[in-house]
Amino acid sequence: MKPKEILVFGASGQIGRHLIRKLTKNNYKVIAVTRNIHQKGYILKTQANPGYLEIVELSSFDPEKINSLIKECNVCINLIGILFEKKKNQFKNIHTELPALLSKLANKNKLEQFVHVSALGIEKATDSKYATSKINGENVVKENFNKSVILKPSIVYSVDDNFSTNFLSLLNKLPIMPLYYEGKTNFTPIHVTDMALIIYEIVKRKIVGETIECVGPQVLSFKDIILTLLNSIDKKKILIPTPLFIAKITAKIFEKMPKPLITTDQLTLLKYENVVSKKYKTNLDFGINANKTFEKEIKKYSFNWKTGGQFSKNI
Ligand SMILES: NC(=O)c1ccc[n+]([C@@H]2O[C@H](COP(=O)([O-])OP(=O)(O)OC[C@H]3O[C@@H](n4cnc5c(N)ncnc54)[C@H](OP(=O)(O)O)[C@@H]3O)[C@@H](O)[C@H]2O)c1
Repeated sequence: MKPKEILVFGASGQIGRHLIRKLTKNNYKVIAVTRNIHQKGYILKTQANPGYLEIVELSSFDPEKINSLIKECNVCINLIGILFEKKKNQFKNIHTELPALLSKLANKNKLEQFVHVSALGIEKATDSKYATSKINGENVVKENFNKSVILKPSIVYSVDDNFSTNFLSLLNKLPIMPLYYEGKTNFTPIHVTDMALIIYEIVKRKIVGETIECVGPQVLSFKDIILTLLNSIDKKKILIPTPLFIAKITAKIFEKMPKPLITTDQLTLLKYENVVSKKYKTNLDFGINANKTFEKEIKKYSFNWKTGGQFSKNI
């Protein structure tokens, strides 16, 4: 039997790479879209057996080119997202206009499903550009195609992330660690393999017309997360609750960097709880458990940041 064809945008990212492995191992064929096949092709190629993965380069969101890809597929998954804006990459184009285009074409070509990954804890964050663009994206996707599924994960972490690995590097270098909002904001981190499992189950069970919050087994405050990371690398640092005006000044400086550690918009978003809203179903309502715990998973790779480790400042 011909395998089902799944078109994945943002396939080279953290979630995408794990999802490709899960889907192709289970007899789905993935068409992975990337902006730069020369840079990302080698990472993508190693994620699947030959015959189960095709890589397509698309450097712009050209509706005709996207339509020609969508019309050949059964399911489309959108994993494209950004954490900060650059001249060409604005939150509005990436989080609202692109999902609008994909869902419109999914509807036109009568796909079986369109799976769109948004984010948890953004409803109340009307003062964040990231959050507003993501919410607008969710709304337009729901309007355009009734066979859409919106997934809203909390922090997704793994050895491939931009979160735990960045903080481990920071904790290594900085003598002190600033705690924004006194470190009290709560998160429900989910391991990337659990997130990939949720998307896989959505596709396998042909679930449509749902918005699902995707959460791990624990609620951890920002301070808990930092302490867990410090503990896993056997280091102690002074944690300093940072007044908001100082945090804003540092974020303004950081956001000038090519890959900012924190931006003012991220700082704004950090004040909102990143836990289930009770407004939507969660992965647990579909019997999809995300069991991996932060402390246990972090230990599998944090040794690299311990004294003497590959990424420790004092090897
Ligand atoms: N990771 C988290 O903690 C987390 C939490 C909540 C929500 N999410 C959402 O989940 C989705 C996937 O997250 P992720 O962690 O896998 O993201 P990621 O690792 O940052 O990867 C995203 C992918 O999107 C593509 N991309 C980035 N900018 C693009 C642009 N301007 N135009 C076209 N493609 C672009 C890139 O692929 P190419 O370079 O190959 O083109 C990149 O590999 C995103 O929508 C994200 O907002 C993630």
